[in-house]
Amino acid sequence: MEHLVSSWCNDRSLPESYILPPEDRPGMLPLGKNIPVVDLGAHDQTDILQQILEASQEFGMFQVINHGVPSNLIDEAMGVFKEFHALSAEDKAIETSKDPDKSCYMYTSSHNYATEKFHFWRDGLLHHCNPLEKYIQFWPDKPPKYREVVAIYTAELRKVGFRILEFIAQGLRLNPDHFSSELGENQVLLVNHYPPCPDPSLTLGLCKHRDPLVINILLQSDVYGLEVFKDEEWIGVEPIPNAFVVTLGVLMQIISNGKLKGAEHRVVTNSNLARTTASFALHPLYETLIEPAKALVDASNPALCKSFSFKDFMIKYRAAASYGTAFEELLSGTPD
Ligand code: OGA
Ligand code: NI
Repeated sequence: MEHLVSSWCNDRSLPESYILPPEDRPGMLPLGKNIPVVDLGAHDQTDILQQILEASQEFGMFQVINHGVPSNLIDEAMGVFKEFHALSAEDKAIETSKDPDKSCYMYTSSHNYATEKFHFWRDGLLHHCNPLEKYIQFWPDKPPKYREVVAIYTAELRKVGFRILEFIAQGLRLNPDHFSSELGENQVLLVNHYPPCPDPSLTLGLCKHRDPLVINILLQSDVYGLEVFKDEEWIGVEPIPNAFVVTLGVLMQIISNGKLKGAEHRVVTNSNLARTTASFALHPLYETLIEPAKALVDASNPALCKSFSFKDFMIKYRAAASYGTAFEELLSGTPD
C-alpha cells in the first residue's frame, strides 16, 4: 500500500520513475474527432445493431447512452468509488485483504509494479463480482454503502453488457447467446483512481494497451482522460454525463477472428482534478477455451490463432503487458 500514488502525491513532484521517454509522452491534446455514440434507447433495433457493428469494426470502442441504468444509481456508485479511494492507506489495506484467495485487492500502476521500467499514475481497486454470494463478503464495507450500491450497480451493468454482446453476436451472424454463458460470465470490477498529477505532460495514467477481456463497460467521471488510438492518431473520448464507454478487448478480436477490433487506448492525467473511473469487465471463466468462432473461419479467413484457455491467456498477458513489450504476439501466437 505504501506505493499507492494517492498516499504520497500531495507532497512530491513527479518522481523520475514516472517520467516517460519523449516518444511515449501524451503530446498535444487530440482535437476535433470523436468516437461513435450509440443510443440504446432508440426504437430501431437493426439500426442500433448496425451502429454497434460499425463502431466495433472501426474503433473497437463506442459510447452508449439511454442504456437503462438509472442516473441516480450511477451517481451513487461513483460516489462510493470516490469515497473508497479517499480512505486512508491503512483503511484501504484492511478493506481489500479479506480474501486469502485475493478476489479483492488493490494495486498501483500495473500488475508488474516491481519489475516495470516506468510507473503509471493510477491506483486500482479490483474485485470479482459474479457469483455475487461468493464474492460480496470480500468487498470493501467502507464506505458503509459500498456493498449495497455496487451490488445493484454491477447487476445492472451485467444486463447492459449482455445486451451489447447479443447485438455483437448477431452482427457477426453468430447465435445471439454466443457470449452469454461462459465467455462473459466472469465479471470483474476495476475502480481506477488518477490523483491530480504534478506534470501531466511527462507521464500517463495508463500506457497504450488493449484490455484482456471480451468487452468492458467503463464509467468515466466528468474528467477527461481516456484516449483511443486509431489510424496512427489519438482520439479523445469526451466525457458524456451518464454514458458508458464500451471497449472491445483482445478476446473479442480473437473470437471474431479479426472482424472486430480490440481497441488500443491509454489514459492521460490532469493537473488539477482527480479522476475516478470504473471498468466493468466481462471475462470468460478461467477454464473456458478461447478461439475464433468456427462460423467465422474458412479457407479465405484462416483462424487468427489456435485455441487456449482464458487462464493461460491471463498468465501470458500479465507477463507480457508490461511497459514496452510488443503485445501483438498474443494475437498471432498461441500462448505456451
Ligand atoms: C482500464 C482502462 C480507462 C480509464 O482500466 O483498462 O483503460 O479511463 N481504463 O480509466
Ligand atoms: Ni483499458
